Amino acid sequence: TFQPRVFSGIQPSGGLTLGNYLGAIRRFVDTQNANRDSGIETIYCMVDQHAITVWQDPAALTRNTRELAAGYIAAGLDPAKSILFNQSQVAEHAQLAWIFNCVARMGWMQRMTQWKDKAGKNSQNASLGLFAYPALMAADILIYHATHVPVGEDQKQHVELTRDIAAKFNHDFGVDFFPLTEPVIEGAATRVMSLRDGSKKMSKSDPSDASRINMTDDADTIAQKFRKAKTDPDALPSEAAGLEGRPEARNLVNIYAALNDQSVDEVLRDVGGRQFSEFKPMLSDLAVAKLSPISGEMARLMQAPDEIDAILRSGADRARVMAAPILKRTYEIVGM
Ligand code: ADP
Ligand code: NA
Repeated sequence: TFQPRVFSGIQPSGGLTLGNYLGAIRRFVDTQNANRDSGIETIYCMVDQHAITVWQDPAALTRNTRELAAGYIAAGLDPAKSILFNQSQVAEHAQLAWIFNCVARMGWMQRMTQWKDKAGKNSQNASLGLFAYPALMAADILIYHATHVPVGEDQKQHVELTRDIAAKFNHDFGVDFFPLTEPVIEGAATRVMSLRDGSKKMSKSDPSDASRINMTDDADTIAQKFRKAKTDPDALPSEAAGLEGRPEARNLVNIYAALNDQSVDEVLRDVGGRQFSEFKPMLSDLAVAKLSPISGEMARLMQAPDEIDAILRSGADRARVMAAPILKRTYEIVGM
C-alpha cells in the first residue's frame, strides 16, 4: 500500500570518491532517469548531520556540502527531476530520529559493523551521535516513507536496521505506518576497495589520499594512483573465476567493468592474459574519460556557490512539504 519512493544520501565529510560515484551517485542518476515519467519521487540528500558524528572543521563542512551538491548535479542529478537538499535544513529528520532513538535497542546499534569499525577500540570516546547514526539514517529514509534506497554494500546493514525500526514501531503502536524499505545494491562496483589495501573499502575518510580516486583528481593524479595501486605479479585471467583470492586484481577489474558498463567476464574476455603494467594505463584512460567531464562541471559549479545554495534551499522546501505531515502523524500515533 506504499507508493514506491526513492531516497538516498551521502555525507559531506570530504571530497567524493570513485567509490561514492560508482556505488551511489551514478546509480542515483540511473534511478532518477528510469523513473522520470512514472511519478516516482527521487530524493537525494547531503547528510551533514551524519558527517558531524566525527569532527568536521566548520568551513570545510560548508565547502564539502557545496562540493557534494556540485558532484550530484555534475553527474546528472537534475533539480527539476529529483529533490536535492541538505539534511540539516529539514528539521523533521532529527525530530523523527529522536522517536527512533526510543524505538531502537542498544543491542541493535552495538551490532552495527560500521560502529565497530569507526569507534574502534576507543569506543568510550566516540560521540553519542556516531552510535545513534543508524537511527538518524532510518529517520532520513522513513520521514519520506521511502521504499527503495540505492546504496553501496557497506550500507546494507543500516537499511536492514531501518526495517527493524519500522517493524518495531508498527508493532509497538499497532499501526502499518512505516514501509519496510528495500536496499537496492546493484552493479559491478557495489564495494570499491582501497587502492592500497584490498581488504578495506575506498573511503573519503581514509587518511591515505593514495588509497582512493577523488572525483576532483586531475588526469596525472589518477594515472599515478592507478600506477601505484597494489596488485599481484600474475597476468589477468580470462574469466571471473580466475580472480578468486586476488582482491586487488578483482577490484581494478570491477572498477573497469563499472566505468565501461560491462560485466567482469566481458572485460576479461578482452584483457585476459595481459599484465597489470598494460591494464593499468587502460584503466586510467577510461577513468579520466569518464570522470573529467564531471570534475570539469563540478569546478564550474563551485564558482557559483549561490546557485548551489539556491538549489539546495528550494529542494529543502519541497522535502519539508513531504516530511511535515509524516512527522505530524507519527506524533499523533505516539500520543504527542
Ligand atoms: P564514505 O565512506 O566515502 O564516507 P558515505 O558513508 O557517505 O561514504 O557513503 C555514501 C554512499 O556511497 C553510500 O551509498 C555508500 O554505500 C556508497 N559508498 C561509499 N564508499 C563506497 C565504496 N567504496 N564502494 C561502493 N560504494 C560506496
Ligand atoms: Na560510510
